[in-house]
Amino acid sequence: MNITKAVIPAAGLGTRVLPATKALPKEMLPIVDKPAIQYIVEEAVAAGITDILIITNRGKDLIEDHFDLSPELELNLIKGEKIQIHEECVAISNLANIYFIRQKETKGLGHAINRARSFIGNEPFAVLYGDDVIVGETPACKELIDAYGMFGKGVLGIKKVDQNDISKYSSLKVENIENNIYKCTDMIEKPQPGEEMSLYSILGRCILPPEIFDILDHTAPGVGGEIQLTDAMKELATTCGMTAVEYTGKRYDMGNKLGIMKAAVEVGIMHKEIGDDFKNYLKEFVNAL
Ligand code: UTP
Repeated sequence: MNITKAVIPAAGLGTRVLPATKALPKEMLPIVDKPAIQYIVEEAVAAGITDILIITNRGKDLIEDHFDLSPELELNLIKGEKIQIHEECVAISNLANIYFIRQKETKGLGHAINRARSFIGNEPFAVLYGDDVIVGETPACKELIDAYGMFGKGVLGIKKVDQNDISKYSSLKVENIENNIYKCTDMIEKPQPGEEMSLYSILGRCILPPEIFDILDHTAPGVGGEIQLTDAMKELATTCGMTAVEYTGKRYDMGNKLGIMKAAVEVGIMHKEIGDDFKNYLKEFVNAL
């Protein structure tokens, strides 16, 4: 079955990046010249996704504006004969069929995903976390969709994290199947020391079967009093098993300050317009440190 629908949860409060995110949604924080969420939508589209539901919240209207036309700006660009940037701006509004729904209360990622039930209906779908930008030759979302095609089970996008950091993430019980593909049979959200199942964690992407919605309906609040998507996926993993893919791209966590700075530097040096100049500047700067 083709996977053509995706959900981007973007209703979090972004408290780790305050005060920048007091009025500005963290998903709109730029990496060079594009907001984080545009990289994520482009990845989904490159993976064959045609319909995207973005879960928002009060104060996130800028995200809707970004994927809309902007007639006054566009007219101004045409008058100034700035044709290329005009085309780029208009193209953003044609990337995919993009829909929005509000998560009226910030009750956790699982609660946010459950808002997507009527949009998804009865088909598997992709989830791309709104603050995790993944840059790489093959879209991470495509690698996960391919694994869904091979094994027919929900798929988790995973990476190894440092022992010191695992308590901030989820930890998975995994067994290698081949190359970068694993079978996942259990997981825990934000493990206390000694509770880790491995250093593999779900980072930013998954493919879920529609059964997740019934599970979310009875998932009790977990760590932090939030309805955790990991707790619902644990039920899926322990009953039917899930597949985990160590995707090849590099992930940037736009939900924390260091992640934002790493993205600016690493994506900045590859940028077609300013990349070389920025690299030269960085070399001089680092030498003088
Ligand atoms: P995070 O835990 O990283 O986001 O959630 P947060 O709550 O904004 O983080 P803090 O406040 O800095 O700790 C992962 C993803 O889930 C979304 C977030 O927008 C992010 O994309 N999310 C989280 C929701 O959509 N709703 C929620 O209730 C919680």
